Amino acid sequence: MTMTVTTRGTAPSYLTQGRVDFPERFVWGAATASYQIEGAAKEDGRGRSIWDTFSDTPGKVFNGDNGEVACDHYHRYADDVRLMRDLGLRAYRFSVAWPRIQADGSGAPNGLGLDFYDRLVDELLDADITPYVTLYHWDLPQALEDGGGWTARDTAYRFADYAVAVHARLGDRVRSWTTLNEPWVSAFLGYGNGVHAPGRRDPGDALRAAHHLLLGHGLSAQALRSAGAEELMLVINSSLVATPAQVHDPAAAVSEADAAAVERVHSLLNRQFLDPALRGEYPAEVLATVERHAGLEHIQDGDLKTINQPIDLVGINYYNPCVVEAAPGEPADAAWPGSEDVRFATADAPKTAMGWPIVPTGLSRLLLRLSQDYPEVGLFITENGAAFDDVLTEGRVHDEDRISYLDGHLRAVHAAVEGGADVRGYLAWSLLDNFEWAEGYRRRFGLVYVDYPTQTRTPKDSALWYRDVIGRNGLAG
Ligand code: FCB
Repeated sequence: MTMTVTTRGTAPSYLTQGRVDFPERFVWGAATASYQIEGAAKEDGRGRSIWDTFSDTPGKVFNGDNGEVACDHYHRYADDVRLMRDLGLRAYRFSVAWPRIQADGSGAPNGLGLDFYDRLVDELLDADITPYVTLYHWDLPQALEDGGGWTARDTAYRFADYAVAVHARLGDRVRSWTTLNEPWVSAFLGYGNGVHAPGRRDPGDALRAAHHLLLGHGLSAQALRSAGAEELMLVINSSLVATPAQVHDPAAAVSEADAAAVERVHSLLNRQFLDPALRGEYPAEVLATVERHAGLEHIQDGDLKTINQPIDLVGINYYNPCVVEAAPGEPADAAWPGSEDVRFATADAPKTAMGWPIVPTGLSRLLLRLSQDYPEVGLFITENGAAFDDVLTEGRVHDEDRISYLDGHLRAVHAAVEGGADVRGYLAWSLLDNFEWAEGYRRRFGLVYVDYPTQTRTPKDSALWYRDVIGRNGLAG
């Protein structure tokens, strides 16, 4: 039985059980990020990143954890690629650690750092797994942060130089290039509420960082395209924004004030990045917020034209909906400059170990809205997954909760495809349990369980289930 979705732009009212088949050539894989898995923090000329510094600062990361060893992937990459092959993955999204390529964020590239990714790409291609390279997944060289980080315009130019250096080495074998992972998180958790590295707390800095990240995206996209990159992608942490009632019922009646709160937060989260990148303009209300907190001097003539480079795909990292309601008098949240009079709420839904509500229909509705609003670009699920309190017993992890999360979200993706959304692939977050940023190692998102003291990898039941999904290009009944 396939899912019934009425027309493009309307959400499915429910997600059926039963078999669903994905389109031919749908891409299946998993994703990771450099600082979360590589370890080898001091090897082969790698410089320090803002996440090394942040993790070393007491009180910033749960349990004082850091990425010094992580999953030791830097040394175990060949085994990890074998594991991917055994699980039937067809694509693997990883990120390059900028401080491995340029210890201080500029100058001649470090050959040893490039060698690592060169070996990884060859190993993947030998295993018939397509590499998807992300250039920035948050590990900014500390030396650049010392010069202002993303609040400094120069960082955008440094980023484009670095992107070109990586492409020069891998571009003959890698066709898909992502500039940034989740610029909203880099800017607003890194410089707004300080929950992520570099831990600064200033709304003006966060908004300047957001602009310079976008500028770095545009400059690097332009440079990569002229160097011959085939496929360019920008990855955002996108959520359906809805009131508590709308989360489950898109037709729920909402007050004008609630509807305005939803659209404002949708602008801050999604349109702040997609409108400049795809249209060459900021939404008016975002610009008003920028002007209030940061002035407009940092947005120079021609920047929006530079940011607006033709790209092929928008990558969507979706975990849960963003739930808001109007709350007159509420001050702006530190991560959300411009969110005055809005209260962030939570959905009435089961939660993952992160406390994130599980709402698969939010993903189909998000994909349908984005494909309606930005029909010029293809969509790709670059991250989706869940942390649960996994237990390893007798060599198995029975993570039924993760299987059900993935199954529900894949049905949601399928529903959106049936509804007309151009979704090209799905990458589970994550291949391995790993360093979950401020949460340290206590949150396990992997399809594969990692016993950190021994570095033993054990595919969870969800990994075996996912292998079957990939094998049949769909979900069984
Ligand atoms: C995303 C990040 C990724 C991972 C997941 C759980 O925001 O891109 O690195 O931490 O959340």
